[in-house]
Amino acid sequence: MSKKLLSAIFGAAIAALALSPSVFAEGQELAEMHAEMDGCEACHADGSPSADGEYEFEQCQSCHGTLDEMDAVHQPHDGMLMCADCHAPHEMNVGDKPTCDSCHDDGRTAESTLK
Ligand code: HEC
Ligand code: HEC
Ligand code: HEC
Ligand code: HEC
Repeated sequence: MSKKLLSAIFGAAIAALALSPSVFAEGQELAEMHAEMDGCEACHADGSPSADGEYEFEQCQSCHGTLDEMDAVHQPHDGMLMCADCHAPHEMNVGDKPTCDSCHDDGRTAESTLK
């Protein structure tokens, strides 16, 4: 686990003590949960979205690692997709699992792929 992710988790634990409800509350928007830890600047340069999403993608990877370093759902998309193609930070909530059928039409799921 990267140092940056560890310190972000530590920061989140402190924030969870200070804030109510917890920063990990299911049903909270993904971007909001991250912003409570590190502000909009956690993902956006100077808090403003980039035109192509590349800067944001680099920020995700600096904390979570690259697609290639993740599980069998993530690895095949290395070099193909950015995190936000599946985890839209302003549309999805903490605890939401992205589905496959917007891009694959053979009925695959994360569960069938991880088996
Ligand atoms: C977890 C990373 C993350 C955090 C934190 C985050 N954003 Fe974003 N934001 C993104 C990504 C990725 C996009 C582009 C893709 C998308 O919209 O899903 C985006 C898009 C946007 C857009 C473009 C319109 C839109 O919704 O697509 C605005 C405006 C924006 N963010 C504002 C903010 C503000 C203000 C904050 C702080 C309250 C914030 N963001 C926090 C990742 C983040
Ligand atoms: C092809 C769609 C897809 C892409 C692209 C993707 N993810 Fe995921 N992600 C998923 C799915 C589906 C799950 C739930 C199943 C699993 O654990 O793999 C998940 C789970 C996760 C989890 C664990 C959260 C939980 O549900 O327990 C994290 C953290 C995560 N992704 C981060 C990322 C990051 C960071 C990137 C970019 C480097 C990324 N993902 C790119 C689909 C995607
Ligand atoms: C500053 C570090 C940091 C950045 C940047 C960051 N994350 Fe996270 N993220 C965390 C931490 C800490 C957690 C909570 C612990 C965990 O689940 O790994 C988390 C949790 C998550 C989860 C799991 C939420 C759940 O359902 O449990 C997803 C998905 C995720 N991040 C996606 C992203 C995406 C996509 C981006 C970029 C747009 C991003 N993160 C940027 C630190 C970061
Ligand atoms: C945003 C579009 C998108 C989503 C959503 C998506 N994929 Fe993919 N996936 C791709 C692309 C692009 C490729 C690479 C081209 C190809 O091989 O079809 C790919 C390739 C793959 C591959 C390797 C080749 C193959 O077809 O088997 C696997 C495995 C895979 N995806 C699993 C999943 C799973 C599981 C999910 C749902 C959790 C998912 N994908 C969601 C776009 C997506």
